[in-house]
Amino acid sequence: MINKVISVETSCDDTSVAIVDHRGFVIDQLTASQDLQHTPYGGVVPEIASRNHSIALLPLIDSILKKNNMTFENIDGFTVTNRPGLIGSLIVGLMTVKALSESLGKPFIGVNHLEGHLLAPFLKDDQYTPSDDFDYPFIALAVSGGHSSLYWVKAFSDYTIIGTTKDDAAGEAFDKFAKMVGLGYPGGVLVDRKAQTGNAQKYSFPRSLIGEKNLMMSFSGLKSSAHRLITSLDAATLEKDKADLCASFQEAVVDVLMHKLVYAAQIYKTKKVVITGGVSANSRLRQRCEDLKLQGYQVVIPPLRYCTDNAAMIGYTGIQYLNRDEKSELNLGPMSNSKESDFKIDLYQEPEKRK
Ligand code: KG4
Ligand code: ZN
Repeated sequence: MINKVISVETSCDDTSVAIVDHRGFVIDQLTASQDLQHTPYGGVVPEIASRNHSIALLPLIDSILKKNNMTFENIDGFTVTNRPGLIGSLIVGLMTVKALSESLGKPFIGVNHLEGHLLAPFLKDDQYTPSDDFDYPFIALAVSGGHSSLYWVKAFSDYTIIGTTKDDAAGEAFDKFAKMVGLGYPGGVLVDRKAQTGNAQKYSFPRSLIGEKNLMMSFSGLKSSAHRLITSLDAATLEKDKADLCASFQEAVVDVLMHKLVYAAQIYKTKKVVITGGVSANSRLRQRCEDLKLQGYQVVIPPLRYCTDNAAMIGYTGIQYLNRDEKSELNLGPMSNSKESDFKIDLYQEPEKRK
């Protein structure tokens, strides 16, 4: 029985380590953000990300053990994200975990980062416990800088992608829009903050695919439309209307996400929905979720520390597999994409349109 693991997540630009137990209790989590290093470039630079992971990772593992008065003796195994993500970033976490696992004679398992996001609602800690009646099956909307997808989470290890974006991810759209209006990086949170004082009705942005009876999303038309509008405005109007532009843009993204989420729940005849990924921090999205709760939905948004990229979700996911006697071998490699067997794909189409 694996009771406690050290978990490592280095798939993008956050170096995160956690100690998690088999019930999903997070004993501790330490994350080193690299935002400051990437800000001058307006986005994540893979080379810089992997270099910073290699500087930060071992000291973080050392710190989390010391902080909790533990040694490797107290740990039964390791979990690490090995897919999908930036190869150079994944290599740092994976190689470190392999070396620890081999030298200490404790098992390790490579975990799919997205599966981690889907299981984040089961995490708990001293400050947070999920509601007792929350369980499978549920619809999950994973929205971050790299992903905007809807999943039918039927049971542990039984996931179906039922909708996804045709082009940009929602977080990416926020980041690009922030750049266009001169707000900087990372953009989502800055647009959100600016939008608080804006009028969401002032500008009209497209809600692509919202009327179509499927679960596909698209944000590139919205991005182009915003670009056309912004380049047509003079500098004074752009400055004066920045909050209105942010609020109007944000409303369009949130409209699409909420619309498709509710549609998915109706198709799968459930009222249990989860929102995870960095965009779930968005205050307007959270406000709209409150409306959904009033309609009888159980909406679970894990605390932000478990919504953005974090090692705890990888720990909980990995420990479930380790306790089913699955473990990775030393020849496991990093993968930029998911494995074919990780997710079923059944992109929903209304029945008469199915081939
Ligand atoms: O999950 P995450 O931390 O990293 C990955 O992309 O995997 O998500 C980061 C994304 C960025 O695109 C960021 O702009 C967006 O989440 N984001 C937000 C907010 N906070 C972060 N988007 C909208 N509103 C926010 N408050
Ligand atoms: Zn992520």
